Amino acid sequence: MAQKVLITSALPYANGPLHFGHIAGAYLPGDCYARFQRLMGRQVLYICGSDEYGVAITLSADLAKRSPKQHVDEFHAVNKALFDRLHFSFDHYGRTTCPGHVQMTQSFFAALEKKGLIEEKTEDHLYSEAEKRFLADRYVVGTCPKCGFQEARGDECQRCASSYEATDLKNPRSKLTGSPLTLKPSLHLYLRFDRFKEQLQEWLKGKQWKENVVRFAESYVNDLRPRAITRDSDWGVPVPGYPGKVFYVWFDAPIGYISATQEWNSEKWKDYWLDPKTKLVQFIGKDNIPFHAVFFPAMLMGQDLPYKLPDEIPANEFLLLEGKQFSKSDGWTIDLADFFQRYTPDQARYALAANAPETADAEFSWKDFQMRCNAELLGKLGNFVNRVLVLMKGTVPHAGPLTEIDQQFLQKTDLLMTEGAAQFETFHLRKASQTLMELAQAGNGYFDAKKPWGKGADPSTTISCCIECIKNLALLASPIIPETAQKIWEMLGFTTQLASEHWDAVRKKQIPPGKVLPPPQLLFRKIEDTEIEEQISKLGKKMATPVTQPSQITFADFGKVDLRVAVVLEAEKVPKAKKLLKLTLDLGTEKRTVVSGIALAYEPEQLIGRKVILVANLLPATIMGIESQGMILAASHETGLELPRIDHLPAGSKVS
Ligand code: MF3
Ligand code: ZN
Repeated sequence: MAQKVLITSALPYANGPLHFGHIAGAYLPGDCYARFQRLMGRQVLYICGSDEYGVAITLSADLAKRSPKQHVDEFHAVNKALFDRLHFSFDHYGRTTCPGHVQMTQSFFAALEKKGLIEEKTEDHLYSEAEKRFLADRYVVGTCPKCGFQEARGDECQRCASSYEATDLKNPRSKLTGSPLTLKPSLHLYLRFDRFKEQLQEWLKGKQWKENVVRFAESYVNDLRPRAITRDSDWGVPVPGYPGKVFYVWFDAPIGYISATQEWNSEKWKDYWLDPKTKLVQFIGKDNIPFHAVFFPAMLMGQDLPYKLPDEIPANEFLLLEGKQFSKSDGWTIDLADFFQRYTPDQARYALAANAPETADAEFSWKDFQMRCNAELLGKLGNFVNRVLVLMKGTVPHAGPLTEIDQQFLQKTDLLMTEGAAQFETFHLRKASQTLMELAQAGNGYFDAKKPWGKGADPSTTISCCIECIKNLALLASPIIPETAQKIWEMLGFTTQLASEHWDAVRKKQIPPGKVLPPPQLLFRKIEDTEIEEQISKLGKKMATPVTQPSQITFADFGKVDLRVAVVLEAEKVPKAKKLLKLTLDLGTEKRTVVSGIALAYEPEQLIGRKVILVANLLPATIMGIESQGMILAASHETGLELPRIDHLPAGSKVS
């Protein structure tokens, strides 16, 4: 019976779009590991999903003036689409707002309560009479108790950096309405984490995890206290018997791993979560360590069912972008829609794997990305595959007797394959990607040394050994760059899915001499310097709202803009672009197609027959493969977007 491996990646908050920094930490390493484990013939289940409750989400939704449900629906879809684009191999991508999650969370709570591990405690909390509700830290501003700064946040002063309880603020007010807050007692439920101390210590003993994981876990275990697991809110899993209260997001979210597995299969989930023989591997970012190494395990220990505790917690550091943290509001980010118009998922996966932040914070830089794609993927891997297959001219040759140099090369190949496998197995993704390139370079070196293109040389043996190497390259590459690996596999004449093959079987497979192979295709495109310069120049600019006044223009300048009234004849969503609508406009004298970024504010049906203002003499531009012949005017603000109204004048009317 194959070893069962249950793999999870931290459930990302559906509170904004994920960026490459997240992907490199808890996600890509998880996907590569899952893909490798499948190749090893293990019975893999890879689970992830959206974390959709919590105060951060209600606050963002309030600020965006929409319901939390609308908010998480959007970002669940956005993030799931990114994972799909990057060819993630989740067996299930769930969400904590799924129906089964309430029942699962409440049953966890019930088991803890039955064991006497839940206590009530009443403490003062900040209350808004105007809003008729208790406000969590993030909803509160006030005067810093240390430095007197009047706009200090609820948990930490952004001027003097001291941290405190929100109840310590002077003159506390609601961040949303400015209404004054008073202290009012509120009852909350506390989980007696302190009662798990010995059991956790025992369990942590001898764990061969990364040093920072062990260190964090131990320091938390030494100082375990009861912690509040409820909040006053209407967005979350309701606490049975306590109207107006929901579970704290860090109580329900990890249970989301289990409810997502249950949603995947209402029976088989138990084969994974309740079988001690399952290996549970949880990929996370370093900020999640205490929850996965201490609090969630304690919650699992407090159940009646024999839940699996994590066997491995590969926690990664952070990935920076050109030396700074990714930040959408500062424009310090990568526009992923634009990225995937130009580059392939495998280029992204390889560059991120090669820079995986395993032992220290790492960095994505555009120059490095270009180097990884051009010098490594194209220059080493792509080049080797291509030169061998081109020289071979379509038919796999018969190898002659092997000389020492041939044997050495085959041994080197074996050695690197063994090393690569061990690196995948032990969460050293960065090293595994290096090993992949070393193998390609070994191939290039061997090919150069044998000079099989030379006059009078018989290239058969050389090509035959190289073909063996290419097969191994496809296999070693498969967890990291699955699409490319599959292409190479097919170029060797195989018709199966490489990802469904077994590592050992592929290692032993022979490509029969005499076999005619399909014509080789190029695997990678070269990235030009100009593209990279363009990308770098975008950094820090995109989102910045202009603080300076726009420069003044002359009347003549303004007169160059030809503004016209146009009627919307047709409107439809642009596939894979959530903000874009494709509009067909009637200008009175002609029709125009325009792609417009108004899809979050208007449904296509609302627009039919409506009059809009068109910039009619704008140079056409291709957006998502559609030629956009002009642009329509709209007002925008962080709270939304609105089209100006013209009701009575006909299409074609000039606006000035
Ligand atoms: N949403 C959290 C984050 O992005 C991770 C939650 S992991 C889970 O940091 F265990 F709670 F699911
Ligand atoms: Zn202060």
